[in-house]
Amino acid sequence: MTELVKVEKVSKLSKRALSELCAAASEAIEDGAGFGWLRPPPQQDFERYWQGVVLVPERTLFIGRLDGIIGGSVQLVSPPPQKEAWAFACLIDTHFVAPWARGHGMARALLEEAEQEARSRNFKAINLSVRETQGAALSLYETLGFKRWGSHPKYALVDGKTVAGHYYCKEI
Ligand SMILES: CC(C)(COP(=O)(O)OP(=O)(O)OC[C@H]1O[C@@H](n2cnc3c(N)ncnc32)[C@H](O)[C@@H]1OP(=O)(O)O)[C@@H](O)C(=O)NCCC(=O)NCCS
Repeated sequence: MTELVKVEKVSKLSKRALSELCAAASEAIEDGAGFGWLRPPPQQDFERYWQGVVLVPERTLFIGRLDGIIGGSVQLVSPPPQKEAWAFACLIDTHFVAPWARGHGMARALLEEAEQEARSRNFKAINLSVRETQGAALSLYETLGFKRWGSHPKYALVDGKTVAGHYYCKEI
């Protein structure tokens, strides 16, 4: 990680942070990021989405800054309280870095911070899934010790075509 990259856990988003986060996520989506949206949502909807993320108790939001500007993010999601049998494992969701902020170790730093949080909350495993087309992400997750345990041939539908996806787990 370069010295210019900083990762923080956030429970509130200032107006400026919200706007930078929307911009970074929109750029990642436009670049073909595989975290759900196919096109950036309208600004107002996107802002409401991020405001919702910081309100939902099951979601912990981490943001990454390069030179002080938000360039990426990840969420650690815990299972709902009634799912007691699943309480040992959490989930990595909406992990992205905007194209301009890539190659500085931000994605790795975000994941390491999320993993640290998972350990401190006594989770025993972290799950995630990713489209097979996200080569950089697959390589990163495998480097960080996530083991692929399965694949879904029709994981996502992108521009009318199904895309396969892979499921990973890391025991911590
Ligand atoms: C995957 C992604 C998050 C990587 O962001 P990044 O900040 O550039 O990644 P880092 O600089 O932290 O790189 C860490 C590791 O990722 C892997 N990696 C990153 N970019 C890569 C690339 N273009 N090709 C292959 N591996 C790559 C490498 O293992 C790298 O390790 P190294 O630094 O020892 O070489 C970014 O490309 C992205 O947002 N992609 C689109 C969204 C996405 O696929 N999200 C995950 C699924 S939801």
